[in-house]
Amino acid sequence: MPPAVPGPPAPAVPAAVLCGLGGWVPPQVVTNDDLARRLDTDDTWIRTRTGIRRRHVIGPGQATSDLAVRAGRRALASCGPSAVDAVVVATTTPDRTCPATAPLVAARLGLAGAAAFDVAAVCTGFVYGLAAAAGLIASQVARGVLLIGADAYSTIVDPLDRAHAIIFGDGAGAVVLRAGHPDEPGAVGPFDLGSDGTHEDMIMVAAGGSRHRATPGRTAPADLYFAMRGKEVYRHAVTRMAASARTVLAQAGCKAGDIDHFAPHQANLRILHSVADDLGLPRERCLTHVESVGNTGAASIPLALADAAARRTLTPGDRLLLTAFGGGLTWGSGLLTWPTLPAPVPPHEQGEESTP
Ligand code: UT7
Repeated sequence: MPPAVPGPPAPAVPAAVLCGLGGWVPPQVVTNDDLARRLDTDDTWIRTRTGIRRRHVIGPGQATSDLAVRAGRRALASCGPSAVDAVVVATTTPDRTCPATAPLVAARLGLAGAAAFDVAAVCTGFVYGLAAAAGLIASQVARGVLLIGADAYSTIVDPLDRAHAIIFGDGAGAVVLRAGHPDEPGAVGPFDLGSDGTHEDMIMVAAGGSRHRATPGRTAPADLYFAMRGKEVYRHAVTRMAASARTVLAQAGCKAGDIDHFAPHQANLRILHSVADDLGLPRERCLTHVESVGNTGAASIPLALADAAARRTLTPGDRLLLTAFGGGLTWGSGLLTWPTLPAPVPPHEQGEESTP
């Protein structure tokens, strides 16, 4: 018998390793000028305050699962459904209050039988989902996880509310994670997650849950829509994202200068640049996708990754810092070493996925 070829010792705890990536935004584009035709706003205000030029929105009859299925299919293209035994959907706009959206998405992707659940952490949902997926793999509950961040904010934002209608867009981004070695490219972690529920009213949809049921004729229409205290949220976003990023860098024993790409939640270009400045990261290292899709909630980080990978901005071995902030309040960060992956289809490109 030939002697065994020496390799790295099998890790006691498997790490989650990125092996698939995809993103999709719906074909309908809403430009700043389109909004200015129906709201008291203008392109210059929107661009200078947020960096956003356009966003994509779903059509009538479409829902979050339709976005999630398309992004999920793209992420699975390089590894196939047999690689996955758990599906996690991070969203603030589930198809229904009950049941969760993930089981439906799993079934539509040919993954019925897989574990499937939603993560509700608003715009931090993707980072929370990534940490949860890493935990499922580390505990060997799952060998492979499809994690999708999908949001259709156009379904919860009042179209006549200029403060919020300008910010948000619809879309979905997805990753596939497999069990692997913590030192191999694609490995995710460590993570830092946090929350402060004393500020739950800073970002909320007041009615529709068990605290305030949506009752026909009795619920004020404004309570059915998304509300946010923008200025306060802005301040919290900058300080919490920077603090969380520092925590995770310290956990990993590295400095901001070791980071090749900063992949923050795409809330507002000014927020992204402020956080990068605070961390001492050159702004050019910040992945920005908000200009062309707006704030897509839990979808924003995987969409930014898919956009950057499609443009071949990311090189295997690059170190990425992911940081998000959202309603709850919630925040979180994680590290990722970029693996060798086939370049995904650009998220705005419509393929056969444009039919569900
Ligand atoms: O994804 C979860 C996390 N979300 C965020 O991180 C969002 C954080 N917040 C923000 O990005 C910003 O606060 C906004 C983009 C939402 C707003 O920007 P701002 O610089 O904080 O503006 P503001 O709300 O303080 O409003 C400034 C002015 C006001 O007029 P006055 O009172 O100064 O006369 C607003 O009425 O701009 C007015 N304004 C607008 N004008 C034109 C507010 N919205 C608009 C608009 N077009 N769409």
